[in-house]
Amino acid sequence: MKLLMKAVTIASAIVASPALATSWTLDPEGSHLAYGSIKKDVVGEVNSFTNLSGHVGPDGKVEIEIDLSSVETNIDIRNERMIEYVFRKAGTAILSAEFDMQDVADLAVGGTTIVDAEAVLSLVGTDVEFDAEMFVARLSETSVLVSTNDMVFLSTEDAGLNAGVDKLMELADLPGITRTVPVTARLIFTMDDKKAQAFADTPTTIAAAAIDGDATAGKKVFRKCRACHQLKEGRHGVGPSLHGILGMTAGTVDGFKFSSALRESGVTWTAETLTRFLTDPKGTVPDNKMQFPGLKKDEDIENLIAYLNEESTE
Ligand code: HEC
Repeated sequence: MKLLMKAVTIASAIVASPALATSWTLDPEGSHLAYGSIKKDVVGEVNSFTNLSGHVGPDGKVEIEIDLSSVETNIDIRNERMIEYVFRKAGTAILSAEFDMQDVADLAVGGTTIVDAEAVLSLVGTDVEFDAEMFVARLSETSVLVSTNDMVFLSTEDAGLNAGVDKLMELADLPGITRTVPVTARLIFTMDDKKAQAFADTPTTIAAAAIDGDATAGKKVFRKCRACHQLKEGRHGVGPSLHGILGMTAGTVDGFKFSSALRESGVTWTAETLTRFLTDPKGTVPDNKMQFPGLKKDEDIENLIAYLNEESTE
């Protein structure tokens, strides 16, 4: 079965105007990625992912990260089952696409167009290719809206998710759940100019006094990092050990192969720079290889930093 989906490709469209040959970052607040499912042939439901991040390079390459653990089905137990059985705790799905910018090169503010895009969704170890027709609207000099023009259909079989869906049916005692899933996306991208400079105007020395979060609460937030990071010195995993991270220069820990983007950022990790980085890892250090969409709540970041400050030097 050929799976069609249309999600994110359009993003690339953004690269449109000649003056816009720059990179773009997905605005997570303004963006929405949802899919539908039908139970027992009659009960239609819409699920979405609340945590998205993404980036479009000057070359028209689009990469969108979908935090699978942020799936919102409006029922907690169902969210948990989706994450465990369907997404198999995979963390992040990556949607990548490449786009011919000529199609939208002359899009003026207020202008719209429709572009074809070819995309690949990498989900739980399976790559699914699909074509998508995307509607692109230039909202302002610095922002573009990209949305699916029609629904995109994704087959759970192609995506390697059938066994997980079987399990859900068994658990919820349902006779049937759709095996072809309609997907819609609304994505807003903003120009990077300012963001790429994020660290440029950050003072590199910020006193530890700025750290006043709740370390106990921060320990819970750190669960989101544990899949990739440990606090013990020298213990690297997917990500580097975060031992003694506050006060360190980015990308310098021995024994971990950092991206050149992070190594060359020259940033010193302080409460301030960490806050910026954890809010929007890709926007702050473009092309770094941490596959994490960022934390949404300022409070979580504050608490997490207090925890790192206390624990990471033990
Ligand atoms: C999916 C894996 C993953 C998750 C989850 C993750 N990280 Fe990372 N992190 C990485 C990788 C990989 C790097 C190295 C990036 C590079 O070299 O571009 C990194 C780098 C970092 C760095 C820079 C380290 C240095 O020595 O300069 C910090 C700080 C960091 N992560 C903090 C966090 C925190 C805090 C969380 C949780 C809120 C988190 N990360 C979640 C994979 C992850």
